[in-house]
Amino acid sequence: MTFGLGVITCRAAVAWKTGSTLAIEEVQVEPPKAQEVRIKVISTGICGTDDHALKGLLSANFPLIPGHEGAGIVESIGKGVSSMKPGDKVLILIIPQCRECSACLHPEGNFCENVLPSSGLMLDGTSRFTCKGKKIYHSFRASTFTEYTVVPEIAVAKIDAAAPMDKVSIISCEVPTGYGAAVNSAKVTRGSTCVVFGLGGIGSAIVMGCKASGASRIIGIDINEEKFPRARNLKKPVQEVVMEMTGAGADFAFEAIGLTDTMVCGLGYGVCLIVGLAPSKENLHYIFTLVFFWVIWHFSNLIIIAFFCFADYKTRDCTPQLVIDYLQNKINIDPLITHQLPFDQLHKAFELYHAGKTTVLSARNTVENKQQ
Ligand SMILES: NC(=O)c1ccc[n+]([C@@H]2O[C@H](COP(=O)([O-])OP(=O)(O)OC[C@H]3O[C@@H](n4cnc5c(N)ncnc54)[C@H](O)[C@@H]3O)[C@@H](O)[C@H]2O)c1
Ligand SMILES: [Zn+2]
Ligand SMILES: [Zn+2]
Repeated sequence: MTFGLGVITCRAAVAWKTGSTLAIEEVQVEPPKAQEVRIKVISTGICGTDDHALKGLLSANFPLIPGHEGAGIVESIGKGVSSMKPGDKVLILIIPQCRECSACLHPEGNFCENVLPSSGLMLDGTSRFTCKGKKIYHSFRASTFTEYTVVPEIAVAKIDAAAPMDKVSIISCEVPTGYGAAVNSAKVTRGSTCVVFGLGGIGSAIVMGCKASGASRIIGIDINEEKFPRARNLKKPVQEVVMEMTGAGADFAFEAIGLTDTMVCGLGYGVCLIVGLAPSKENLHYIFTLVFFWVIWHFSNLIIIAFFCFADYKTRDCTPQLVIDYLQNKINIDPLITHQLPFDQLHKAFELYHAGKTTVLSARNTVENKQQ
């Protein structure tokens, strides 16, 4: 066992303030404290949630090292860590699973009480990162846009030793959230019609899950004309177009953008699942008011609406199994990766993301640590 050795100096992408571009900086990463793990990050994806956080749409403390969708190798462990050892392949998880709190003990619960996404600090209230003598905050206690990170053991899942590390990072958020939204949360039925608002990483994985569930028709909607060519000449509200296309409407609607307007659009269908995270400052009460009136209006045709997180999966339990499913060719995540770039081109990956040219970055860490 290697109990947290010295401080590691490595490269990381730092967001110095809200809205600033990422700067690749030399940072110091402290050894893991008790119940923590220090991980060499091998690949990381860009999720819409990182973009929301960087734009200040979700509450976060700056300066921070963003990123939460990551795969890596355990470098060292803190005292008391028992579920993994140095050298193990792992996924870093935005939602921990402590297996002790009421949410974790509930058979249907997954929103572990140890989620404190906005604090930017570890469970003991301190940070493990510094840069130029300044404290740097963690992002969702994950921070994967760095060559090394420190994460609580409860937010790490040990995965199969055969896992290809340049690919499986997307199984730490995108795949379970999107694919799971269809197969686990909505339980999409064979022969059904599904509508997916937003064809980014999450929406694409939802489409994959709808297909795997046997949906006979899947309608994807996006403002990006390359993904949804009809967006070019749309002369009426998109929900009217969908009604015309489907006649009676759809059986399942998924919102995978994070806009309250499109969440409201999704309410017109049988089962509406909201995956997108709305800006924390926006008042969601008006959605609930609309739902209330909509349910009354359609009292003979009950509408079910659900907001959910990580597709209701218990994170440490489900992700290793999804990796095995991928290794056994039961699911194919490869098409979800559009570009793979080296770590020092993270900002290029963000440019591609903002231009709608990428859904995921898989950034292989090719730089050796100075202290190794
Ligand atoms: N609930 C969860 O557990 C969970 C987990 C991960 C991500 N999320 C959220 O899911 C959402 C999507 O994440 P992502 O990684 O796929 O992001 P993304 O940026 O890759 O995809 C968003 C897509 O929505 C499209 N879009 C933007 N505005 C639109 C509009 N007005 N109409 C139609 N399409 C529009 C974009 O062109 C893009 O293709 C985000 O809000 C993210 O925070 C939730
Ligand atoms: Zn994510
Ligand atoms: Zn818990």
